[in-house]
Amino acid sequence: SEGSDSCWRGVPITEIYGSGSPWGSPEFPLVVPSRNHAVLYHVRGDGSADTPPKPQIGQDKWDQDHVRLPCSPESLYPVENSNGETRLKKRWKMIEHALQHPITNSKELAEAIISYNTKFKKIWKFKALHKFFNEYLEEEESQYFFDVTLPEIAKLALSLPKLVQSPIPLLKQNMNISISLSQQQISCLLANAFFCTYPRRNTRKRNTEYSSYPHINFSSLYECRGSSSVMEKLKCLCHYFKRVCTKVPVGVVTVWRRSAGDAVPAWDTQDASLAALPLHVDSETTIENAHGLIQVDFANRYLGGGVLTYGCVQEEIRFVICPELIVTMLFTEMMKPDEAVLILGCERYSEYSGYSNSFSWTGAHGDVTPRDSAGRRRCAVLAVDAKPYAADAYQYQRDMVDRELTKAWVGFSFHTEGQCEGLRYPGIGTGNWGCGAYRGSPRLKSLLQAMVCASLRRPMAYYTFGDPELRDEIIEMYNTLSRYNVTVGQLYKYLIQYSETDMKRTSLYSYLNQVVSQPSENNDQEFMDISSTSETSQL
Ligand code: AR6
Repeated sequence: SEGSDSCWRGVPITEIYGSGSPWGSPEFPLVVPSRNHAVLYHVRGDGSADTPPKPQIGQDKWDQDHVRLPCSPESLYPVENSNGETRLKKRWKMIEHALQHPITNSKELAEAIISYNTKFKKIWKFKALHKFFNEYLEEEESQYFFDVTLPEIAKLALSLPKLVQSPIPLLKQNMNISISLSQQQISCLLANAFFCTYPRRNTRKRNTEYSSYPHINFSSLYECRGSSSVMEKLKCLCHYFKRVCTKVPVGVVTVWRRSAGDAVPAWDTQDASLAALPLHVDSETTIENAHGLIQVDFANRYLGGGVLTYGCVQEEIRFVICPELIVTMLFTEMMKPDEAVLILGCERYSEYSGYSNSFSWTGAHGDVTPRDSAGRRRCAVLAVDAKPYAADAYQYQRDMVDRELTKAWVGFSFHTEGQCEGLRYPGIGTGNWGCGAYRGSPRLKSLLQAMVCASLRRPMAYYTFGDPELRDEIIEMYNTLSRYNVTVGQLYKYLIQYSETDMKRTSLYSYLNQVVSQPSENNDQEFMDISSTSETSQL
């Protein structure tokens, strides 16, 4: 179906969309407030309005089930007076005091942040922050930031009591719940992260209240040594604030956490055939450009991974070019092996080039992704964390294979309920999940993800990130499995059998090529005949 000079193999991308064009598939369910869906803004009939939605009214909740907001009347901070006596002061008053004063350089910014985080006075050095504004940026750029952008970020941060009036539930482990917020509310919450105002979030030491949550205060980024990727990430973040302060975004975002519970299928009896899976493999496109698909975030179990520290690979890059994703770090507890998080509606603000050490911000990105009827950009980011492997062989063991299948299944099955003819949500846009920092094998991971997609009847686009050989190997393996009508259950058994062989002698794909063509007692297709065996010799 494709020319050998094109960068893709398999079925055309139009078959992965679910309906021919990126925006042709049905919209995800609308935003409807309920016990399992906290909506922080006032839902309007028309999601396409050109003003931001109004905040929903509610009662502040200062407890272990909700985000403790810095503006809560119960947010207090110990302050020592001149007599050496300690008194509790309202934290928000301290924050207002610090941010209403002019801040003209990075030193004053650091002092402002410390004034309501006095416990860190001797600890925080703000190395990256100082380097960024004093050495890395051009002088005029820094000047512009402190003259124009920073006062706006401060105003935005201080509008928290006005913009976020109803409590934000924590998305804790084992919960199936979602939160919808407006992009304007997100910008305000992130402005607070920029100024490090969130209480109890400066330490993740064991047994502290938020030890199972990601970082959210940007102090963790300011504390980094100033490597160039940290500097470039700061550029992306500053650019985001400049944009949202110049023009308030009007859309909304939904974050949905899901746990598989008992619903995970028994893999060895799955009879879906791999041949039925629409598979598209592309070596050039990147996942964030797979418009209209459910785009996989190669996540850390702590969402965002190292975005607020040193990390600069797929997840971190995605989070800095689409900073609204960072708000998930405020309320999402560490994911368990059978959990995933889907984020609908985030916008992209930055262009970039390079990767890891060579990452750099290259300018503004104007996002033209259409909005759905709820006002969300039609962009779906699915966070699933693979398992990090220290030793290669380990990943083929049954419990590891099961772990990854479960994780992919809980993520890929978002919005498959009610999937029927005429209602096809888009396919999955994924790639070398768990195969970079986490050192897994893309040959194995592509098959595991294909198995999950096949059993969910969800099409899959696989992006090999500049690797045409891998692309061709994956599609050839898939063609062979299809030709022999291998089912998900059979492939699962072959994978387990492979882990019991001397894996150093035979690669996974040569092993599979052998076993699919040889009938054996473990092979469900006992009737497989000579003709299919002789067919392999011609492959
Ligand atoms: N599009 C398609 N493929 C990509 C892209 C992209 N934009 N970026 C990278 N790849 P990695 P992991 C390919 O290492 O191994 C983070 O710190 C590329 O081949 O980001 O699951 C998280 O927070 C790359 O080698 O994911 C976790 O802590 C491969 O995908 C940890 O890394 C894997 O990308 C997850 O590590």
